[in-house]
Amino acid sequence: MKFKHEIFEKNSLILTLGILVVVSIGGLVEIAPLFYLSSTIEKVDGMRPYTPLELTGRNVYIREGCYLCHSQMIRPLRDEAERYGHYSLAAESMYDHPFQWGSKRTGPDLARVGGKYSDAWHLAHLTHPQAVVPESVMPPYKFLLDNILDGRTIEADLKANKIVGVPYTEAQIAAAKSDLATQVDEYADDYDGFMARYPGANVRDFDGDPEHLTEMDALIAYLQMLGTLVDFSTYEADAEDNLR
Ligand code: HEC
Repeated sequence: MKFKHEIFEKNSLILTLGILVVVSIGGLVEIAPLFYLSSTIEKVDGMRPYTPLELTGRNVYIREGCYLCHSQMIRPLRDEAERYGHYSLAAESMYDHPFQWGSKRTGPDLARVGGKYSDAWHLAHLTHPQAVVPESVMPPYKFLLDNILDGRTIEADLKANKIVGVPYTEAQIAAAKSDLATQVDEYADDYDGFMARYPGANVRDFDGDPEHLTEMDALIAYLQMLGTLVDFSTYEADAEDNLR
């Protein structure tokens, strides 16, 4: 045995070939199964495309660089699951273009922050973080209250998402601009239509200013939805038929 091992150790070419053979076997074992799956994303109940208001809030989130301090990716490790909740599923970011997993946690993970605080808490926190968490290093975003949404680009935004694979329907695209306003008004004429297009969406004034539709409304609507679409009390991982 010792003798045979020396063949590899003394000939760099044979050693290289040996390494290639071993690495290829490992590579094949990892890669080959992917060719036989039509999708690596589990199908889970509850996922739906973002409402126009949530999508706008998500754009604000990206524009303001929230992802530089916050991740949206709970890893399957015990301490993370105990702090934040069920680990993130691939399906939960299937409509994210680009995804917001992030790579740094100066602040906490936000993947399941939806419903954790009231809208008023978010408003106070985004206006002046140190008012609610004195030691916070998060910057203030009070100006979002002054940025009125006119919805000029929302229809194009939905269309662009559709091109990259988000299944927005013609009806959702046609109603995009009015849906922006409907989501902050429970008494809007099209409330039922909106709820049919986006089942389970939160409808209310988010920023404490019912007179105006602002970027603050959009950002809080987005935050309050994060991690709430999949019902983890009934979710079961790894069921065969979860793979499409
Ligand atoms: C410079 C880093 C930084 C940036 C940029 C930042 N945050 Fe934070 N964020 C923090 C820190 C630190 C905390 C924890 C202390 C606190 O609650 O303020 C935090 C906390 C939060 C919380 C509360 C999370 C929880 O579970 O308690 C939310 C929600 C939040 N940030 C949203 C945002 C949003 C939205 C943006 C972008 C508009 C943003 N943050 C930008 C650092 C940041």
